[in-house]
Amino acid sequence: MIYSRIVGTGSYLPPRIVTNGDLAGKLETSDAWIQERTGIRQRHIADESQASSDLALEACRRALEAAGLTAADIDLIIVATSTPDYIFPSTACLLQAKLGVKGCAAFDLQAVCSGFVYALATADSLMKNGIYKRALVVGAEVFSRILDWNDRATAVLFGDGAGAVVLAAGDKPGVHASVLHADGSQVGILSVPGNVCGGKIVGSPFLQMHGKEVFKLAVRVLDESAREVAAAAGIRLEDVDWLIPHQANVRILEATAKRLGLPRERLVVTVDHHANTSAASVPLALDEYVRAGKIKPGHKVMLQGVGGGFTWGASLVTM
Ligand code: ACO
Repeated sequence: MIYSRIVGTGSYLPPRIVTNGDLAGKLETSDAWIQERTGIRQRHIADESQASSDLALEACRRALEAAGLTAADIDLIIVATSTPDYIFPSTACLLQAKLGVKGCAAFDLQAVCSGFVYALATADSLMKNGIYKRALVVGAEVFSRILDWNDRATAVLFGDGAGAVVLAAGDKPGVHASVLHADGSQVGILSVPGNVCGGKIVGSPFLQMHGKEVFKLAVRVLDESAREVAAAAGIRLEDVDWLIPHQANVRILEATAKRLGLPRERLVVTVDHHANTSAASVPLALDEYVRAGKIKPGHKVMLQGVGGGFTWGASLVTM
């Protein structure tokens, strides 16, 4: 039996930090409101010259270094992003070129905030079938570009960043199981309902969200997918060392851990200093906790995505 296993993690945050106080100077909001409703204190915002592939490149370099590998060792690149550099080619192809390699498979995957978990499950399946041996799985976003900075209801929630893992094929898990779901009938609660046509923007280029509906749905599906993936993996929830849900709102994270009966100490929280970085949030959080020595080899980690589509999913891995 072939399994895939995470053998290196890396991440990158653009240096510019925007605090709640900075936003309060421009919008009718306050640090107290943002912290109380979301747990967010600050977010990183990319420079205009930086695209998703640039953030991804730094995250991948760090993940490859941690794995003791080079880009030439990689035979598959999947980039999860909703903020690609171009309409085409894919950010994964642009990333491949920036990594200085050619020939390996490279494609983007679009599942919004569930993108990294969808990408991990996809890479794992391709590797279990023996098609690929070493993959870069990346979440990279510049959500700051699709926010209406005059809309206090959404502008305060998001940030930019990238996270990456190197997956290697081997005879031990690794990824035990993944579950993926979507409900397209919920498209209206979270979307950027626009496109480019004949040189003009058609629809809206900005993120639109019904916060309360998203909140309720997120808490329900995070609970369901955690139970489903634990059952599929044959691992009891109480044996999970770390829970890394998509970092959207600390209240969603805490509600999820509580419903699952997991102690707060096993819940990974980075939304306070990263804000919601969509597809980048889970690999960013994973890398931070690995580098801090909290997540250790042998630990069982549950990774969970939830976001626009509506999409959701989970993977249970042994590090
Ligand atoms: N500052 C101050 N006041 C604000 C702000 C702000 N930034 N934003 C909204 N308000 C006001 C509203 O206008 C409203 O005022 P009113 O009562 O006079 O009408 C009041 O605050 C309450 O607004 P609600 O939307 O009811 O506030 P709620 O408690 O639902 O919190 C929030 C809003 C934080 C967005 C919450 O619904 C939430 O977190 N939802 C989940 C959304 C999420 O995480 N989205 C991320 C993407 S989805 C994903 O990744 C899964």
